Amino acid sequence: MAFAQRHLLGLEGMSADAMIALLDSAASFKEISERDIKKVPTLRGKTVINLFYENSTRTRTSFEIAAKRLSADTINISESSSSASKGETLVDTARNLEAMRPDAIVVRHPMSGAPHLLARHMTCPIINAGDGCHEHPTQALLDLLTIRERRGQIAGLTVAIVGDLLHSRVGRSNLHALRALGATVRLVGPPTLVPREFASLGATIHHRLADGVRDADVVMMLRIQRERMGANYFPSVEEYSQYYCLTEEIVRLAKPQVIILHPGPINRGLEIASAVADGPYSVIMSQVTNGVAVRMALLYLLVARSKAEDAESDAGAEVGLRQGGRA
Ligand code: CP
Repeated sequence: MAFAQRHLLGLEGMSADAMIALLDSAASFKEISERDIKKVPTLRGKTVINLFYENSTRTRTSFEIAAKRLSADTINISESSSSASKGETLVDTARNLEAMRPDAIVVRHPMSGAPHLLARHMTCPIINAGDGCHEHPTQALLDLLTIRERRGQIAGLTVAIVGDLLHSRVGRSNLHALRALGATVRLVGPPTLVPREFASLGATIHHRLADGVRDADVVMMLRIQRERMGANYFPSVEEYSQYYCLTEEIVRLAKPQVIILHPGPINRGLEIASAVADGPYSVIMSQVTNGVAVRMALLYLLVARSKAEDAESDAGAEVGLRQGGRA
């Protein structure tokens, strides 16, 4: 099996085969959400903790629904409801949670690297649900699944990622994944948010929206991450939207079968016009639907399979012991 990791911390460095294995598995899980009774016993008796130190609508709900559709028990912990407010460190919180024997911990944190820190201290699978400006791997995987469904394949496509690349974990995970899968990536935005140095990541840089979108197969809009901006990166939101808001007029420059993605939450009228977000090329709601399947596949691969392998190796050790005893 190409996907054989203990944790999912990011997509940088992940092989194309591993990503494709995950996408194939996600595609097969989609059908469960269309059933009348949307539940299978795959993770019965398992426990998944969602540890969220940042607000979330889509990711937290999607992980919870995914776990529940696999029959796992889920626990949701937010920063405000945890003992972090009493001075407990992230590692201490996670170690205490691990002492209660969960089978996976899904973590979102404003600090880049927080899930990596936990993975160094813990044995149960850690899933990165977004860490600061670093990566958001499950978002990129659901984006890939959506693109592949609509366009048949990812290799050979031209994908324009537009907006606040500097602060975007979604943009970074997608850039790594799309490059690994053979797409051409354009990064589009003002020089303050898309510095020239990003070209070293294997993308072309465009500061004019029309240049970036022209003849693109896929346009992925990013949210302006005002909560992560310590300085003024553009004069005003009005000026940003004047130059970088995706309008119907700009969409007409892309390929005729273009698809428009946005991870959400969207800022209507700032980075994307309502007519585009709700228009015929938008696949934003399909992204959300696919998020559940991607997270079901991931939980299956990290929890069910790793437990099966542990049981197999335990059985092997026991047989070895018995044989050892006979010898
Ligand atoms: N796309 C995404 O991560 O959305 P949430 O912040 O609502 O989880």
